[in-house]
Amino acid sequence: MKKTRFIVLGCSIAMFCFTGLAVGDEEACITCHRDISPGQVADWESSKHSKEDVTCSVCHGENHKGAEDAGLAQMPDEHVCAQCHEERFNQFAKGKHNFGWTSLNAMPITHVEPDELMEGGRGCGGCHNMGIKSEAQKKEQREKGYRYQNNSCDECHTRHSFSKKEALNPRACQQCHMGYDHPQWEMWSSAKHGTRYFVKEKGELPENAAAPTCQLCHMPDGDHANKTAWGFLGVRLPLPEDKQWAADRVTILKALGVLNPETGEPTARLDAVKSVDMVRLTEEAWLTEREKMIKTCSKCHSEQYAREQLAMGDSMMQKADRLMAEGIETVAALYKDGIIKKPENYSFAYPDFLYFMRTGGGNMDQMSHIDQVLFQMYMKHRMRTYQGFFHVNPDYAYWYGWAMMTKDLGEIKELAKTMRATAKTEK
Ligand code: HEC
Ligand code: HEC
Ligand code: HEC
Ligand code: HEC
Ligand code: HEC
Ligand code: HEC
Ligand code: HEC
Ligand code: HEC
Repeated sequence: MKKTRFIVLGCSIAMFCFTGLAVGDEEACITCHRDISPGQVADWESSKHSKEDVTCSVCHGENHKGAEDAGLAQMPDEHVCAQCHEERFNQFAKGKHNFGWTSLNAMPITHVEPDELMEGGRGCGGCHNMGIKSEAQKKEQREKGYRYQNNSCDECHTRHSFSKKEALNPRACQQCHMGYDHPQWEMWSSAKHGTRYFVKEKGELPENAAAPTCQLCHMPDGDHANKTAWGFLGVRLPLPEDKQWAADRVTILKALGVLNPETGEPTARLDAVKSVDMVRLTEEAWLTEREKMIKTCSKCHSEQYAREQLAMGDSMMQKADRLMAEGIETVAALYKDGIIKKPENYSFAYPDFLYFMRTGGGNMDQMSHIDQVLFQMYMKHRMRTYQGFFHVNPDYAYWYGWAMMTKDLGEIKELAKTMRATAKTEK
């Protein structure tokens, strides 16, 4: 380290003296960056990489040499990591995180919201910017003035310490798995499993006390291919045997635009869903994930107990779907009777969940209020009902979830009645 300092002193008078020096560009990177971004260098020095000669230029290339040519530095994505961590990369490539960017862009809503909230690394892009991006996409961002912010492996192993310990801490998941439509952090941390973890973390339980983390259940044995049976949207194929539940799921699939509301036939959106593995499409794919989870629960519970618990979660899904379908059908009837006009860019006169809180038309084009209540019923309250149940959180499952769904349904019915009455008097 002394040697490098010496070089810095000599060169801070004339920066260009780095080029052609025998010491090599490597020390140049570090010494110069220790001045301009000491936090980054300190972080890298704390990493295993710094002890293993995985230096700045291994990941950033050697084309950039000084202040004037910073644009020439390469911004590494997970393929660079793959050169040395092939197994982890291959697992990651099969898991859901790898699809973050693609599935975000498959949503029509993405293309009508402000760019800053997509590519800009806040809003949707802040959590989904981890898919494989093309050079063209990187270039386009730079032209807009945004910095390329791919967070692929570094979503859990933050740059530049790239630490395994950090990734093993449930807080590594908190920044994204929280909030409106996926509050897994809130559910886990305030329920029994999380409580045990925090007491143990404080040293008040022994090192070997049972306290399951997100990683233990979702990355068993460090498997980076994380995926669950039900997935985020809480729908799957094939349709269930129970007739009512099958009909209810079809109704939900129509509101997701995956099935044509008029004919019941699959739409082009089903291809998008398939391409990013958004839902499990076969019984086998679903069972594979389910059995993996049962195996994990069985590390601390009896297998029978685990099966019963998860089967109850499935059964809650069925009951939540009943409420949901009733809500969708109530709003769909308003479209059918012309009381809500079909927004220009909708494919069908039917609610469309993939536009979230707006219709995606003109710049400030809002959905009807009843559509927004319906969307909230799906995206906020149905999510909490089953996510809360699976994460063993009584309050989320009932008050924040189920009870709110029943309240939404009441409001939807009341609003529909008023809308019909108003439409009649206007005639
Ligand atoms: C003489 C000083 C100097 C040297 C030597 C140097 N850099 Fe830089 N580097 C900079 C400056 C200045 C910036 C721009 C910082 C800013 O925008 O605030 C920069 C930016 C960067 C960036 C970010 C680029 C971007 O688009 O945001 C990376 C990555 C980087 N340097 C890596 C390296 C690597 C790797 C080396 C060695 C091969 C190196 N630097 C050598 C001064 C230096
Ligand atoms: C193991 C790979 C790896 C090593 C080694 C590495 N970096 Fe990085 N660096 C990254 C990744 C990944 C990013 C984020 C890329 C992105 O978001 O597009 C990044 C981003 C940066 C940035 C731009 C973003 C910012 O926060 O300003 C700078 C500057 C930078 N690195 C400097 C350095 C320096 C200096 C070193 C050596 C001390 C170094 N890096 C070593 C992987 C690495
Ligand atoms: C040139 C090879 C090389 C590249 C490229 C590389 N690594 Fe590493 N990485 C290593 C070596 C060597 C170790 C130390 C191995 C060990 O301790 O078992 C390591 C260790 C790690 C660890 C474990 C750290 C710990 O706390 O135990 C993580 C996490 C990691 N790397 C992530 C990454 C990520 C993410 C990237 C891409 C941004 C990357 N690596 C790029 C070689 C590399
Ligand atoms: C706070 C971080 C965060 C923000 C902001 C965010 N998402 Fe997500 N998104 C996630 C997480 C985490 C998941 C996985 C949740 C789960 O499975 O429960 C997810 C799941 C998804 C999925 C389902 C993917 C699949 O294959 O199952 C889509 C589509 C999606 N988000 C789109 C968006 C859009 C569009 C926005 C902006 C309007 C957005 N997200 C904003 C974190 C975020
Ligand atoms: C969702 C969070 C997450 C993401 C994303 C992630 N990792 Fe990890 N990583 C972990 C966890 C957790 C561990 C610890 C696994 C264990 O020991 O149980 C780990 C461990 C590692 C290790 C340490 C050695 C080992 O094999 O256990 C390496 C190397 C590594 N990851 C590389 C990567 C690379 C490369 C990527 C991107 C392709 C990546 N990780 C993406 C969470 C993540
Ligand atoms: C930078 C944000 C971010 C971080 C950090 C993060 N995730 Fe995710 N996670 C996402 C997004 C976004 C998705 C949905 C990706 C998609 O398919 O579009 C997701 C999906 C998942 C899924 C798949 C759910 C399904 O649909 O089956 C699991 C499981 C998961 N994450 C667990 C974890 C765990 C465990 C951690 C911490 C070790 C973690 N995640 C850290 C953003 C994140
Ligand atoms: C005790 C095990 C366990 C722990 C701990 C756990 N989960 Fe889960 N998680 C589950 C189960 C079970 C499911 C439902 C799986 C299924 O579909 O069969 C699930 C589902 C998920 C899903 C996808 C479906 C959904 O809820 O949208 C995500 C994402 C997820 N968990 C993230 C997390 C995060 C992040 C943490 C930590 C804050 C965490 N989980 C802690 C067991 C666990
Ligand atoms: C690492 C060990 C561990 C794993 C894995 C684990 N649990 Fe637990 N679980 C506990 C402990 C400890 C308790 C508290 C003592 C008890 O009730 O048995 C608990 C409690 C529970 C409770 C009762 C909560 C309450 O408030 O009384 C349920 C239900 C539960 N777990 C379900 C599951 C399910 C389902 C899985 C798998 C998805 C799972 N657990 C995985 C350790 C674990």
